[in-house]
Amino acid sequence: MSSAKKIKGFADMFPPDSDRFTFLENTARSVFFKYGFGELRTPILERTEVFAKGIGEDTDVVGKEMYTFPDRKGRSLTMRPEATAGVMRAFIESKQYQPGGVYKLCTMGPMFRYERPQKGRMRQFHQINCEALGSDSPLADAEVILMLNEFLLAAGLDKLTFEVNSLGCNECRPKFRQALTDFFAAIPEEELCDDCKRRRNTNPLRVLDCKVERCKKAIEGVPELPDHICPKCRDHFAEVLEVLDASDISYVRNPRLVRGLDYYQSTTFEVVSGDIGSQSSVAGGGRYDGLVKMLGGPDVPGVGFACGMERLALLLEAKDGELAEQPDFYIAVLDERGLRQGLLLAQQLRAEGLSGECALAAGSMKSQLRRAGKLNVRFALILGGEELDAKTVVVKNLQSGDQATVPMKHATTLLKGSEQE
Ligand code: HAM
Repeated sequence: MSSAKKIKGFADMFPPDSDRFTFLENTARSVFFKYGFGELRTPILERTEVFAKGIGEDTDVVGKEMYTFPDRKGRSLTMRPEATAGVMRAFIESKQYQPGGVYKLCTMGPMFRYERPQKGRMRQFHQINCEALGSDSPLADAEVILMLNEFLLAAGLDKLTFEVNSLGCNECRPKFRQALTDFFAAIPEEELCDDCKRRRNTNPLRVLDCKVERCKKAIEGVPELPDHICPKCRDHFAEVLEVLDASDISYVRNPRLVRGLDYYQSTTFEVVSGDIGSQSSVAGGGRYDGLVKMLGGPDVPGVGFACGMERLALLLEAKDGELAEQPDFYIAVLDERGLRQGLLLAQQLRAEGLSGECALAAGSMKSQLRRAGKLNVRFALILGGEELDAKTVVVKNLQSGDQATVPMKHATTLLKGSEQE
């Protein structure tokens, strides 16, 4: 096999794919910062136990999907399969927590899971992740959900469905697990998929969101979480829903939404799209109050979410023309003598805040204008022999086709003037 080939499930990203990512990141930052979030950048490699402990040994992510290997001294390291556990590790290690404080951190970047690649599912994928630490109030849950909604709308994604649920707490969930285990015990083996045969004993909640038709049928009439949670969890969830009801967001309750990571309790949510095929979950999150303590830190509650950038980017494909910023100019040089002047003119234009390029080799008018068209610039500035002799430049508006010959030093004014129109 050629070594000049990328690894399966990993992607190179050229424009316009990378434009979509840049747009999503910029939009996310501008929305999250309004809510008081700062950006935390954590390493891609962590000690394996950060994820094994944090996410849970029985989850698919830890059990089957992690990129784990020994380093040169035999210590087990893992490439982060998600951001939350590493963010908690960093938060604990930084010792910045003060009782009563609220810490809002967003993290963006690549994550790694050894899953079967398909549309919307990669082995290296990217998340935009937010964590709000320090408050156990249902208002914090509602606020991150509303912020996620604002981000998605700001990105122009308005055909998505929010699903919400409560998973109960460490007090009430064991009782619910028991109710599930009892219910599942009565199902004949052959009615469940291989995963659920195992899960019904190791992680019965996961059976609830199995996508296999056979399993969905076998568990008809299964006990539902909202009927089993304790009064405290019920009140918490009710308040989250009341705030959502009072806001401009539509959502559905999904009593079978359990999420795939073990640290969740209480409020959970997912955002799904009907337009990108089977990998329909574009974002997911929830509350994880015991996690910081479990990883060796103080007893700090938290709530957060992550969006899958590849999946959001699929939804953005239709908007490609609108996402990339249009460069202002291309300087077409028809005469060798103009190359240096063109480059200096480009520098002058850039110093004025305009964006664009100058040809690095002279060419025919046709080939140079083709290049300008390909770059989708607003103006072609043409430097031919005549213009060089007269110290002028032809400024051609590529949209209207209008053109004017102006002294070279006035080109900036012309371009800037049209910007203000
Ligand atoms: P998650 O549901 O495992 O949650 O992942 C969040 C999102 O990442 C998914 O909804 C999906 O869009 C995207 N995603 C996951 N796996 C892949 C993949 N193989 N290829 C492409 N996209 C993928 C978490 O990771 C939690 N840490 C979220 C969270 C933050 N909860 C609280 N805070």
